[in-house]
Amino acid sequence: MAKINSNYGHLAANYLFPEISGRVAAYQAQHPNVRILRLGIGDTTEPLTAAVLDGIRTRVDQLSRRDTYRGYGDSEGELALRRAIVDSYAERGASIEPDEVFVSDGAKPDSGNIQSIFSPDAIVAVQDPAYPVYVDTNVIAGRAGRFDPATGGHDRIVYMPCTEENLFFPAIPKQKVDLVYLCSPNNPTGMAASREQLEGFVHYARQERAVIIYDAAYAAFIRDPALPRSIYEIEGARECAIEIQSLSKSAGFTGVRLGWSVVPKSLVVEDGGPGALTRLWSRRQNTFFNGASNLAQAGALAALGPEGRAESRKVVDYYLDNAALVRRTLTEMGMVCFGGLNAPYVWARVPRTMKSWDFFDLLLEQAHVVGTPGSGFGPSGEGYFRLSAFGHREDIQLAVDSIRTNLKLG
Ligand code: MLT
Repeated sequence: MAKINSNYGHLAANYLFPEISGRVAAYQAQHPNVRILRLGIGDTTEPLTAAVLDGIRTRVDQLSRRDTYRGYGDSEGELALRRAIVDSYAERGASIEPDEVFVSDGAKPDSGNIQSIFSPDAIVAVQDPAYPVYVDTNVIAGRAGRFDPATGGHDRIVYMPCTEENLFFPAIPKQKVDLVYLCSPNNPTGMAASREQLEGFVHYARQERAVIIYDAAYAAFIRDPALPRSIYEIEGARECAIEIQSLSKSAGFTGVRLGWSVVPKSLVVEDGGPGALTRLWSRRQNTFFNGASNLAQAGALAALGPEGRAESRKVVDYYLDNAALVRRTLTEMGMVCFGGLNAPYVWARVPRTMKSWDFFDLLLEQAHVVGTPGSGFGPSGEGYFRLSAFGHREDIQLAVDSIRTNLKLG
């Protein structure tokens, strides 16, 4: 008789964003005439730019003709695109090679799948709070142990608290861990790691032969020139870090789907020398994946060209202006806010008497605004709330006006 993967039973609850959608749908059903303003999931709203559309249209034309039609491509991604990605790193002084780049259908699948090339008993450390995919995929793989409702965490995961005291960047783990997930600019706190902070983790990882899984999906939102946009700007990172990137938030590819992972050949682990992890990831991708959509890759190549980048920068600036508006409004109301300067997320402290989900309900009921409760991202997220700056300006304006007018903080 078939049996299910019982690890699913150790997942904390529903995946965060469908849980929020369900609650919002229930509220809307009870209040059909209310206009709900959604600052919950970080989903882009501005259209693809002209250069990206040209790139996709050109490929559509090629696909429509017998002489230029192409089916399967390299599962690692088209070479021209991998070269363009390499060039974008080189501009930041980061040296990677095309055969270390694996194009995919996004950062979410990559950050979920990457754990499969590591030992089932690897000890995993995550920033707390963190994007739920890191913990949940390790739960499903059987590495996380049991969920403890008392702590809000899993007993085999090493949670690295990110708090106001450490300005939301964690201390180096005291114990030996094998995999360290870092995300900068951070989802959900909207804070970006400094060079010194990343140097500390790179040093730790090299010493312990640990691997950093570095999620840089929001790197395009960094405006402070002193902040690194890639972990490979840090000396020694090529020996200990995998980086995951995406065009979802920087070029509006949330629906188009295009990301990549960099798995350097110089990575070394306890039982694998240079090249081992690159080969394993290649093997994994070739087994499970037939490559990103060729239309998405054509759009990505255009997005990484000079025109595409200039256009995307304007769209990112637009979202950053939204973030500034949200942050300013909440701050003027007396709320303590973090993030939102080099990231599209504002992380607000909820009134001390409330839990994150209580604040979710209050904001929805009083202001008709949806956000994301901090506790959904891990135990240290309790007491905080995330507002996303992805939205049309007029909707963000309506949301902040409604918060200012209708939210009674008591
Ligand atoms: C978020 O809101 O955290 C993200 O949009 C979710 C995602 O990128 O998968």
